Amino acid sequence: MDQPRFIQRLPKIELHLHIEGTLEPEMMFELAQRNQIALPYTTPEEVKAAYQFTNLQSFLDIYYQAANVLIHEQDFYDLTWAYLLRCQQDNVVHSEIFFDPQTHTARGIDFDTVINGIYRALKDGREQLAISSQIIMCFLRHLDEESAFSTLEQALKHKNKIIAVGLDSSELGHPPEKFARVFQKALEEGFLTVAHAGEEGPVSNIYDSLELLKVSRIDHGVRCADDEQLVNALAKSQMPLTVCPLSNTKLKVFETMREHNIVDLLQRGLCVTINSDDPAYFGGYMTDNFVAVADSLIVSNQDLAQFSRNAINASFISDSEKQRLHRYLESFLVGEASFS
Ligand code: HPA
Ligand code: ZN
Repeated sequence: MDQPRFIQRLPKIELHLHIEGTLEPEMMFELAQRNQIALPYTTPEEVKAAYQFTNLQSFLDIYYQAANVLIHEQDFYDLTWAYLLRCQQDNVVHSEIFFDPQTHTARGIDFDTVINGIYRALKDGREQLAISSQIIMCFLRHLDEESAFSTLEQALKHKNKIIAVGLDSSELGHPPEKFARVFQKALEEGFLTVAHAGEEGPVSNIYDSLELLKVSRIDHGVRCADDEQLVNALAKSQMPLTVCPLSNTKLKVFETMREHNIVDLLQRGLCVTINSDDPAYFGGYMTDNFVAVADSLIVSNQDLAQFSRNAINASFISDSEKQRLHRYLESFLVGEASFS
């Protein structure tokens, strides 16, 4: 079977997806009109033309501004539901999504409005589309510790809906130690932890996320390749990296996909996974990310399947759910083998 068709049908698990990053220009216009919000663009095409980024910050500036169209619980529901329909097309069977409460509470939107909209869509996704999911709440690292503590406080009454806390936004100048105390409190409250580290920032951010924030996964982490000892330690511990290939080329972490190290890291035995990060901004969803890797780097279908196996192992679901997904994936692979 040809590789694009194999990729499309391969069961996939997404572990690094910002729900605010799924806001397509068409929906941005729809919500702007519905909520009477002025946009600095006149057409969705103009929006797409503005998506020429030089680094992480140049993207974040546009991304936070776009989130202004999200006001009501139904807006967050519609955003999440549209993403789930894309998951269905791409055969994504499980997704763990990030949301950034501070992007919304800073504009006067209630924490509850945001999480209730997202949660209701995910529940419908489980029931109507058979897509399982988890929610991870991220702290914006360019804001201060006090704001993160207040966000954690607001999350406590939604503990049953949130599996983990994470750390995103501008990595340079905002190292993990800034949030060591708030992550400690989150751990005491029973949340798992993850953090963006080693996307643009140095390997010390990966070490510090592991040691100070006690993370269960590193988001991005591709800069680990600068440190041979760290690469070996990550392989040994099977600490997952949630890598986002199209994001990394769009934000110039790698100049081209041919220079991306994801396949190299896979072949060195690391628990690397493929994810879409902010698909409305970076040129594609899960299938597009797998295809982009396969088009530019040498990977077998077995390698591609290993990304899905790794993602199941790295997910925040019960062992029995993991076993169910592994069985589903392996039976798909047996079926594919008998066709080829
Ligand atoms: N890095 C940091 N913060 C983010 C990203 C990212 O890739 N996407 C959305 N917020
Ligand atoms: Zn991200």
